[in-house]
Amino acid sequence: MKTIIEPFRIKSVEPIYFTTETQRQQKLKEVGSNLFGLKGDDVIIDLLTDSGTSAMSAKQWAGIMEGDESYAGSRSFYRFEAMVKKITGLQYVIPTHQGRAAEKILFSIIGGEGVIIPNNTHFDTTRANIEFSGAKAIDLLNAQGKIPDLIAYFKGNMDTAKLDAFLLENASKVPLVMLTITNNSGGGQPVAMQNIKDVKAICDKYQKPLFLDACRFAENAYFIKTREAGYENKSILEICQEMFSYADGMTMSAKKDALVNIGGFLALNNTELAQKCRNVLVVTEGFPTYGGLAGRDLEAIAQGLEEILDENYLQYRIRTIEYLGDKLVKAGVPLILPTGGHAVYLDASKFCPHIPSHEFPGQAIACALYLKGGIRACEIGSVMFGKTDENGEPIAPDLELVRLAIPRRVYTQSHIDYVAEVIIEVYEEREKLKGYKITHEPPMLRHFTAEFEEIA
Ligand code: F0G
Repeated sequence: MKTIIEPFRIKSVEPIYFTTETQRQQKLKEVGSNLFGLKGDDVIIDLLTDSGTSAMSAKQWAGIMEGDESYAGSRSFYRFEAMVKKITGLQYVIPTHQGRAAEKILFSIIGGEGVIIPNNTHFDTTRANIEFSGAKAIDLLNAQGKIPDLIAYFKGNMDTAKLDAFLLENASKVPLVMLTITNNSGGGQPVAMQNIKDVKAICDKYQKPLFLDACRFAENAYFIKTREAGYENKSILEICQEMFSYADGMTMSAKKDALVNIGGFLALNNTELAQKCRNVLVVTEGFPTYGGLAGRDLEAIAQGLEEILDENYLQYRIRTIEYLGDKLVKAGVPLILPTGGHAVYLDASKFCPHIPSHEFPGQAIACALYLKGGIRACEIGSVMFGKTDENGEPIAPDLELVRLAIPRRVYTQSHIDYVAEVIIEVYEEREKLKGYKITHEPPMLRHFTAEFEEIA
């Protein structure tokens, strides 16, 4: 059949609260035009993130009741550990309360002044944790990944020539190389198995471990299955196992591809480093068999990791994003193509060519989507990544984007139709959109709490 249906039935629902455009105008004013400041109830369709927003399955909820809350040696930990080992083959599994806690532990040990960590594109919390330790984070994305409307299969790939050249010069400063699968900040674009292999070969040449930032590993595996020659007949589990066979470690936010509302982990093979990580874990998160989580959370993660490997689920998941993308492309809306694994990314520079980077075109579009239809999206551009030079002049990032991240198993096709309709209406009136200026900003991760004013 041509129609790909949601591979689940809905057993439990929660209401959406509707607001009028006038009410939303008032609410936006109250939060300094920062959508992170809005109450969830004031949002109609919440596409701020796919993180921690999944609908859990009946089996996961049953696991919540089954969870063993023993402080040490919880049965749920062993189920969780076995599942992570089955998928990744990594030897030491360290639970944390979410992805950034795993990053914090890792980089507080291997980071610090003079250290540099390369990645295809660091996610903002990864970059922040590296920089917080005193180290430097650099992005070595391949050239195709920087061209929003260029159709290519693996736009998340690392530029291996650049990595090789970089390590030739800087190997002594690099404790490990990272690859983010899928590449969230670059459009949710996948990384090819061949690229993971090539990056691993370069790491071996310089004797550097490779760590995967693996939040969306199953979505990445599905793209490999459907786009990379030689993988069409492999199961998702087999593809995941091969991906992780090239890794010496990983950080994971279980809030994405483990289908839970909270959780994460760090997994690695190096015994000495694992010991150091556990020492920090005990101080900052908890005992090694629960980390920052309750036994029930570990149970839900173990179950979620089983469910995410289902190919019917992944086909529906990736098709949902593509379906929204197709509707927008038909209406001429500029976006990152092909659509990625967890979100549609509008190309804000093309959407609003009349708004320069330093007036935050992505912010203008995100606010307009909220006003028009109560949709909450996320700016990923000059607000999130913008820097200033030594004279205080803004340096624009490579791309100005607005991300519409789709929570897993939460919204139906008519919700997605509504989202498309709202975006297309805003696009048709795009010339009316105005730029924004920042009126208040914190020293780090400013997108969460900065306040804005529309430029009159
Ligand atoms: N790495 C990547 C690639 C991520 O996308 C995220 C989170 C993290 C690490 C950190 O994980 O949130 O559990 O601490 N991304 C969310 C997002 C927040 O909206 O993309 P966390």
